[in-house]
Amino acid sequence: MQTRSNFSGKLGFVLAAAGSAVGLGNIWRFPYLAAKYGGGTFLLVYLILVVTFGFSLMVAEVALGRKTGLSAIGAFKKLDKRFGFVGVLASIVPMIIFPYYCVIGGWVIKYFFVFISGQKTAAAKDGFFEGFISQPVQPVIWLILFILCAAVIVIMGVEKGIEKASKIMMPILIVLSIGIAVFCITRPGAGAGVAYYIKPSLKGLTPKTVLAAMGQMFYSMSLAMGIMVTYGSYMKKENSLESSVRQIEIFDTLIAFLAGLMIVPAVFVYSGGDAAALGKGAGLMFITLPKVFDSMSMGGVIGVVFFLLVFFAALTSAISLMETIVSILQDKLKWKRLTSSIIVVLFAIALGVPSSLGYGVWGSFQVLGLSILDFFDFVSNSVLMPIVAFMTCIFVGYIIKPKAIEEEVLESGGFKSKKLFEIVIRYIAPIFIILILVSSILDTLGIFKI
Ligand code: PHE
Repeated sequence: MQTRSNFSGKLGFVLAAAGSAVGLGNIWRFPYLAAKYGGGTFLLVYLILVVTFGFSLMVAEVALGRKTGLSAIGAFKKLDKRFGFVGVLASIVPMIIFPYYCVIGGWVIKYFFVFISGQKTAAAKDGFFEGFISQPVQPVIWLILFILCAAVIVIMGVEKGIEKASKIMMPILIVLSIGIAVFCITRPGAGAGVAYYIKPSLKGLTPKTVLAAMGQMFYSMSLAMGIMVTYGSYMKKENSLESSVRQIEIFDTLIAFLAGLMIVPAVFVYSGGDAAALGKGAGLMFITLPKVFDSMSMGGVIGVVFFLLVFFAALTSAISLMETIVSILQDKLKWKRLTSSIIVVLFAIALGVPSSLGYGVWGSFQVLGLSILDFFDFVSNSVLMPIVAFMTCIFVGYIIKPKAIEEEVLESGGFKSKKLFEIVIRYIAPIFIILILVSSILDTLGIFKI
């Protein structure tokens, strides 16, 4: 019988879980959503959701993992046989996300090398990004390189690989984020952009803002995909669960906020105050920002540092996705870590390559009008994750009852927000989650625009 791996202590757990939470979602998605949905209003709505919903769901997931000592499939099944399927659904999410997340991770490595080799002007040219992602071979090589980076760390194990890598990368990530944010907000003319990012505007307060903030929060906190269950199963009983979750939230939100300070004012200055420049989605990071860096004095250096930071953020998230899949294979099939990891690498290449080619030679192949990568993103984020989050609330709120989770939390210290947890898990979260699910599906199918 293998003994379960463990994080060595609370700091190891918090940094590894924060590593999972802080990712591409914080750096490119959060800033443009905030800019699009009323600046400060979005920040405020987001913050309220994090400390209520995000907190409650994360406590539930970590406690489920720690209580059962199992990853998602086993954890749900152990507590109630009928709910084993929730664990199965939760486990499918990282399997869908991991391959395409690595495609984007590969793009990040490419940009890092572009900037380090001094080609900032080339990267700023129109069509550079499209030209790169539509090639058949080059992006696939970067994709494989990124997968291998994640694999090496996962193969080294929980304490020696994941924990150690997080302890090195996460503090560097904080320092780099603060450094770039300070540099960006002190550029001439940046003040108006900062104001645009932070000042609340009432036009931002619509149902759509709340939905957008909620979807972002699930994704950003790595909820509803079994990751926090797996990481919880590696957490020691004596480390405080409530305060760990609070620290992870602060970390995740702080980096998202700083990313906004790096990006919004810079793009604002560059585009001469044109807010539309911020609404470019994925293109913001790979198309608009390189143009911004090219126009800045010292932009070449900032570009290198920025893409290094994004690389760390993406890598620690990819590790958590891979670890979750590996731990499922270990739990279910009793395979060794190395064997499971090799299988996951091959699987990620098999699904990652079509996602990458979907921007080039397979570009005409679309599902529901979406490219292969966008389709995977839609199925995982807009369909499966809300279903898993909803079922988790029902499971905890009505089947095993909040008390089961509370006992687990209390094993390692207090539970100050116990009442809040109960109310959110039983009543508020399930209702709101159904709202996001229905609206996002209708929205994508183009049936109903909110
Ligand atoms: N939380 C990560 C982010 O903000 C995204 C992520 C999703 C990471 C799923 C792991 C798994 O980018």
